[in-house]
Amino acid sequence: MGNKDLYRHDVIVVGGGLAGLRAAVEACDRGADTAVLSKVYPLRSHSVAAQGGINAALGNSPAAKDDNWEKHAFDTIKGSVYLADQDAVEILCREAPGAVFELEHWGTVFSRDDHGRLAQRPFGGADVPRTCYAADRTGHNLLNTLFEQAASRGIRFYNEFFVTSLVVDEETCRGCIALDILSGNLHGFSSKSLVLATGGYGMIYDHSTNSLINTADGMALAYSAGAKLKDMEFVQFHPTTLSGSNILISEGARGEGAYLVNSEGDRFMAKYAPQAEELAPRDIVARSIMKEIQAGLGFDGGCVHLDLRHLGAEKIRERLPGIRQIAMDFADLDPVEQPIPVQPGQHYSMGGIDVSPDGETGIRGLFAVGECACISVHGANRLGGNSLLDTLVFGRRVGDKAFNESHDEAAPVVEAALNREIKRLDELFSSRGESFASLMREMKKTMFESFGIFRDENNMQEGLGSLNELGKKFEGAAVNSARKIFCQSLVRTLELGFMLDIAGAVALSALWRKESRGSHYRTDWPDRDDDRYLKHTLISKTDGQKPAIEYSPVKLGLFPVKEDGY
Ligand code: FUM
Repeated sequence: MGNKDLYRHDVIVVGGGLAGLRAAVEACDRGADTAVLSKVYPLRSHSVAAQGGINAALGNSPAAKDDNWEKHAFDTIKGSVYLADQDAVEILCREAPGAVFELEHWGTVFSRDDHGRLAQRPFGGADVPRTCYAADRTGHNLLNTLFEQAASRGIRFYNEFFVTSLVVDEETCRGCIALDILSGNLHGFSSKSLVLATGGYGMIYDHSTNSLINTADGMALAYSAGAKLKDMEFVQFHPTTLSGSNILISEGARGEGAYLVNSEGDRFMAKYAPQAEELAPRDIVARSIMKEIQAGLGFDGGCVHLDLRHLGAEKIRERLPGIRQIAMDFADLDPVEQPIPVQPGQHYSMGGIDVSPDGETGIRGLFAVGECACISVHGANRLGGNSLLDTLVFGRRVGDKAFNESHDEAAPVVEAALNREIKRLDELFSSRGESFASLMREMKKTMFESFGIFRDENNMQEGLGSLNELGKKFEGAAVNSARKIFCQSLVRTLELGFMLDIAGAVALSALWRKESRGSHYRTDWPDRDDDRYLKHTLISKTDGQKPAIEYSPVKLGLFPVKEDGY
């Protein structure tokens, strides 16, 4: 399969979104020869789609004068239903203001208040307005800033390079093998340390806000290399995605004061969250919308309305120009004049590669950060505005740690792995069989129907059975293409292998947790059960057997565990 170039760098970062770029910038600043391998041009990474904002206790809003990192930490831990590790949350919230100021100094154009300070809007689950934003295009602004920082440092970018496997030898990561999508050639990359920052797995689900590129790559690479995955049953459904297409309609809209309304014209959230109403955490709002729809109080197409009209044209144009444009382009309506039809859609993975707050995976030289990792600061439910923060705070820490890793490189090991990978992909290429497309459709449908907002044993067992069948069919899957150059069906087939692995991990973890907590809601086990389940789920591959599940304790310490409402 093409030529066999071997490259070497001190630190290799896989993924060109916010977490990856922040890690790369840090490693480079510390003195490492740093490279980023990205499946897409970095400015197309999914971070670009983040809309509503980034949390930091700046106390700029008059309603948040006494805000501090402890209050931010409490809201985050309460929102996580006490499953977040409190030491990691402390780091996240303490370092939040510094992370925001750093990006601002590097050039991000944040929205301002009337006094010229960074504006902060209310967001779900937060006691005070704490979310900084750049209108409703926050991720776009941050990503452009960080890409500029990375490029200006001379960090080497390998764009449209898709990592197909990690090279792990003697429990040490020696580098990776990557497909240059354009040429169809495979290359070996040898490094002292490798950081996975590949984002989430949204494409395993129907009805996702995620980009087509979010195919669980890093999680699957680490899982196959022997790392553990943590809390995979916790899948976030964003309450407000555009009905039908599931494009994100930012929580920023509710933060600015938009209402959720059912088909009888009632603002229904007070029934479910009497104090927070529309600004309850996402798991609660998403379930409430589904309950309204199931009670026959939805609109055609299975949706409710998000009404912004009372905000007025000026505020909508200034603070929410992106979602106005989305509504006009994709629903043919102007939210200044008409409500937006919305429904919940898969949005984020709280679970991921089990890592320490420095991104260590347990495999020497292999680190992970961002959505593909579980540090864990989000627990059973992430608060809006905390994921952008997670990428920056932990991206910096992990970049630093990766720089400090200094195991010997082993280019011959990488070369041998490259030869094996060339053979594997050649075989995949020349086989003929079922193509990825129908298997992928089936997987997405299964995940949405069996591992969605409401779950129960029978439905999940049925879903697991379907996933197992799909796994068997995938063994005979073929690329069915005559051309290796820019071969999308090869990339899609490899991605599907990653996704099936991770869908299985979500399914098995969800079946294990016989309680309801945060985003994991089981109609057959509707109560939270701290005695049996206030712990992290860990899943790992075993030789030829069913994956193994074990538990690890939650790190408590800042705030006592309690039952609290919204
Ligand atoms: O609703 C939003 O703007 C999404 C924010 C987030 O996922 O943090």
